[in-house]
Amino acid sequence: MRNDDPRLPSSPGFWRSPLRGTGFTSVLGLVLLVGITVLFVTGLVSYAAYNPDLSPVNDQTPDKGILGFYLFAWPTDPHWLYRFTQGLHVTLGITLIPILLAKLWSVVPRLFALPPARSLAHALERLSLLLLVGGGLFEFTTGVLNVQLAYVFPGSFYPLHFYGAWVFFAAFVAHAVLKVPAALRAVRRPGREQGDLVSPRPGPPTVSRRGALWFVGGASLLFFATTVGQSIGGVLRRTALLAPHGGADPGGGPNGFQINKTAAYAGIDTRETGAEAWRLVVTGRGGTVRLSRAQLLRMPLHSSALPIACVEGWSTADQWWRGVRLRDLAALVGHDGDPPDLFVESLQRHGAFRRAALRANQVADPRSLLALYVNGEALSPDHGYPARIIVPAAPGVLNTKWVARLTFGDL
Ligand code: HEM
Repeated sequence: MRNDDPRLPSSPGFWRSPLRGTGFTSVLGLVLLVGITVLFVTGLVSYAAYNPDLSPVNDQTPDKGILGFYLFAWPTDPHWLYRFTQGLHVTLGITLIPILLAKLWSVVPRLFALPPARSLAHALERLSLLLLVGGGLFEFTTGVLNVQLAYVFPGSFYPLHFYGAWVFFAAFVAHAVLKVPAALRAVRRPGREQGDLVSPRPGPPTVSRRGALWFVGGASLLFFATTVGQSIGGVLRRTALLAPHGGADPGGGPNGFQINKTAAYAGIDTRETGAEAWRLVVTGRGGTVRLSRAQLLRMPLHSSALPIACVEGWSTADQWWRGVRLRDLAALVGHDGDPPDLFVESLQRHGAFRRAALRANQVADPRSLLALYVNGEALSPDHGYPARIIVPAAPGVLNTKWVARLTFGDL
């Protein structure tokens, strides 16, 4: 096959944009260097927030092996921690899409270059580029699909996105180590484009290099502006046009804030949650007690202002919860002073996280409640009536709704 026939994409002459060159690629590469590093770190942090090392029920990637080396006990301070880290992860991921696409466009001639491998070293380099480009597209695509609630994955989203992130990031680090020196050189000495990516027979320019970079930056800004409102809340929520849980009106009144799963979706039958039927079963080393909602309401009630923050990146402003402290419930069943870990079970019929484990530091925090009220009104069915967990800084799914059973003890 001839590599100099300009009708074939394997020929440099096929690619005619006068924008391509090391300088253009390098500006985009340097932005990705910072952005993707932050994405990777916030992604790992997001996984740690589930406390997957605490109990198998919290762990969506049980076969991770040494990839879980960095896990740590997730703190409860600041109370907006997960709201911030996960909001940043999702918003940044969406904001970087135009930059990633522009970077791929800028280097696309290389992807068609023939022969595919000139030597073993070249073959290995091409393989690492396959993992870089394929891994990048895979991570961004699975992330966007999940945020858009399009659960089209074979199996669970979590392992795909988690293992994919490690493969992609390994290839990314190798690429960055090789290219950063050239990229810095190119941006320090702007001017005429250089390198193999420069077209040997450039077409007439339709936009300047600066104009193209402004266009890509503007597209990123647009993605940012139509996403970030879902994490900030208030009037800005209406601007989150790209986020399913962003713009939609969650209704008014004290219970009028975002919901992930409704009671109907979770299979909650109102006959199980009524005053006659519902009892909270609390077990610890001192035995088991069964409490009605009326009995819980006679216990000391406390308030905390905490958000709900979801893995999909949306979060609510702080809501005013009122209920019984988890550590008071622990004391009721023989764990005075130093509360242990807690296993929570919901009435929820199906779906992940109908059971969840909380670590001792989360149980001990005085703001951690079995909430009975929100914003001065009883919880609505969709917010977890008769009782739900609310813990500072925890991912939304660990704030179990429709709680049926609490078991205190080391897990
Ligand atoms: C998602 C992240 C990235 C992807 C998918 C990607 C993809 C690619 C591909 C496929 C090539 C062509 C093959 C090659 O020349 O080795 C390339 C070239 C290059 N990349 Fe990246 N890259 C990414 C991030 C970065 C970063 C973080 C930097 C560093 C700042 C960077 C700087 C460069 C440079 C300087 C070149 C060579 C341009 C030339 O030869 O004129 N890239 N990139």
